[in-house]
Amino acid sequence: MPVKYIPYEPITVEGQAVLNNITRTRRLLQYRENDKVFNKIQRGMPYYELETVETHGDNPDNLIIRGECVSACAYLKEQNIKVDLVYIDPPFASGADYARKVYIRRNPKLAEKIKEAEQELEIDGLKAFEEKMYGDIWKKEDYLNWMYENLRAIKSVMSDNASIYVHLDRTIGHYVKILLDEVFGEDNFRGEIIWANLSVSGYKSQANNWIRGHDNIFYYKRSEETVFNKEHLKEFSEGTIRRYDKIDNNGRRFKIYYEGTKKRKRYLDESEGLPIADTWTDINSMQTAMGSEYLGYSTQKPEALLERIIQASSDEGMLVADFFGGSGVTAKVAHDLGRKFIHVDVGINSIQTTRDRLIEAGAKFKIMDIKDGISLFRNPAQTMDKLAKLIPGLQKNIEGVGKFWFGAIQDTKIGTIPVYVPNLIDSKEKVLDKPLINKIINQELQNLEIDVKKVIIYYVDVDDYKEIEKFIRDNNPTAIEVELKDLKNLLHDIVVDDIVEYKIEEKDAKYEIEITRFISDRLKQKIHEFNEKGRLQRLESGKKYTPIEISEEGLELIELISLDCTNKEGIWKSDTEVKIDKNGYLIVDGNKTKEFWGGKVLSNKNPLRMKIRNISGDETPIPKGIFD
Ligand SMILES: C[S@@+](CC[C@H](N)C(=O)[O-])C[C@H]1O[C@@H](n2cnc3c(N)ncnc32)[C@H](O)[C@@H]1O
Repeated sequence: MPVKYIPYEPITVEGQAVLNNITRTRRLLQYRENDKVFNKIQRGMPYYELETVETHGDNPDNLIIRGECVSACAYLKEQNIKVDLVYIDPPFASGADYARKVYIRRNPKLAEKIKEAEQELEIDGLKAFEEKMYGDIWKKEDYLNWMYENLRAIKSVMSDNASIYVHLDRTIGHYVKILLDEVFGEDNFRGEIIWANLSVSGYKSQANNWIRGHDNIFYYKRSEETVFNKEHLKEFSEGTIRRYDKIDNNGRRFKIYYEGTKKRKRYLDESEGLPIADTWTDINSMQTAMGSEYLGYSTQKPEALLERIIQASSDEGMLVADFFGGSGVTAKVAHDLGRKFIHVDVGINSIQTTRDRLIEAGAKFKIMDIKDGISLFRNPAQTMDKLAKLIPGLQKNIEGVGKFWFGAIQDTKIGTIPVYVPNLIDSKEKVLDKPLINKIINQELQNLEIDVKKVIIYYVDVDDYKEIEKFIRDNNPTAIEVELKDLKNLLHDIVVDDIVEYKIEEKDAKYEIEITRFISDRLKQKIHEFNEKGRLQRLESGKKYTPIEISEEGLELIELISLDCTNKEGIWKSDTEVKIDKNGYLIVDGNKTKEFWGGKVLSNKNPLRMKIRNISGDETPIPKGIFD
């Protein structure tokens, strides 16, 4: 359970248009007579304890926080940390699952040979599969409720002179605009930026419609004093060009003007150019650009986009936050431009990618975990998929059991048992409280279209277990038995470590660790599924595919090895680390090299513990003290 709930503040701006069909942070508890409201529950932001898990350097201002936006805001508010600029690019309710490409690395045993042949590696030639990052499938009302909470939480930690940019698209953008007006005030709305980013070629161009080619970014300022550094392009109107009517020997345009009686020259390329308008056509999307900054995230935004926003709406030394940080673009650009940063995300891949990206950029920061009681498997979307397999006998999409239910178990004695599992993507659902149990017993049990004797309700936290049981006893209008089960018991089994075999040798006061074998059942399973899918596709449609094969040693499944030579336990300090990039090249302590990995790590200091990350982001710690 959260340690406490922290009120959202300041309250909603009065007098704005509201979307009346959403319940917002106040949840209605209605039971027995459906039109009679017995109680109302108003919650704040759930505040959980946080644990510092890793430090890089000694800058306490720069934070990477793993957890949900609302809980991160609760923490910041408790700490009285105020941010000066917020950029968010939250899920768009796009109806799609988002994925990240996972690349199988080169087998170190072959690396030397490849190097000798000076073979240029082509990205397309790399073997890769996809990893689900998050499911962006929401009912509109649920999405807007969730968004409303997030916006109010974010507002609670914005300084009085802060700005916010909310990046969305036509799917849900205009509904959220109304929420934004309500939360931040219509008068503070300063513009809608149209980021024209998509090329009109490719599969999107097939639509029998105007081809979708832009995102919408809503921009709000909290006060007249809020920073805005006007930016200009090196572009000039025809009239201006005409006025610079002379050309010097180097081809530079200039004009003559007089300062008193003195004749002066002014060059066109030294003047400011046109101020940037709110339609941005000069920044390519990552998918179009696919440049060196592309990290495989399907929703990754280009650094140039964030550069423009951060430069305009903050000054050096200010604190820039992104509560849906993804690949860490905001934090990276904020660091490059001399700002402080906070990166928040629920997914482990986001935290790792951002960490690695910031180390390469030379940033100092600490990483904190929000201890909300759930050991996620990589991210909420993958955990939900995993859960479906962990509940014994669970089947999905059973006739007569509606969408509210996660699935159902077929029991020979009892018959069909519908199972409810909270959606881990939506923080509201994690706590089993009276409004939720009331909805289940007074609505969802009646909605079942088949005969049912029992249902199972999984929960992460319960408001008050005894109270909830009593509530069910007193109010259940059906004869259906309601069994409550703790989801955390299932989640404990979700993470199984990989197996690492290694040798350690001390040579000339240096320590050499050689990884001899790496076995990952999780990845083996994933690759097996990928190969099976490819094989079936080939059978069905004749489509070519090359199966992924992994060597006996399995070293091509390793992404990063980190050695902690400072702490035996507690906060991780990476004193030496090697990362193997998707082309097989080594990045040593954040510095890119053109070397292939040879299966070894060298350290100047005695390593006290080691951590190995596989290509999907699962980390296996080597128990403390093993190097003593
Ligand atoms: C569209 S992506 C952001 C992409 C990012 N702008 C970039 O350039 O890489 C949205 C991110 O929000 C994260 N996310 C989803 N729900 C969240 C929540 N409640 N709190 C924090 N992060 C969340 C997802 O894990 C995902 O990484």
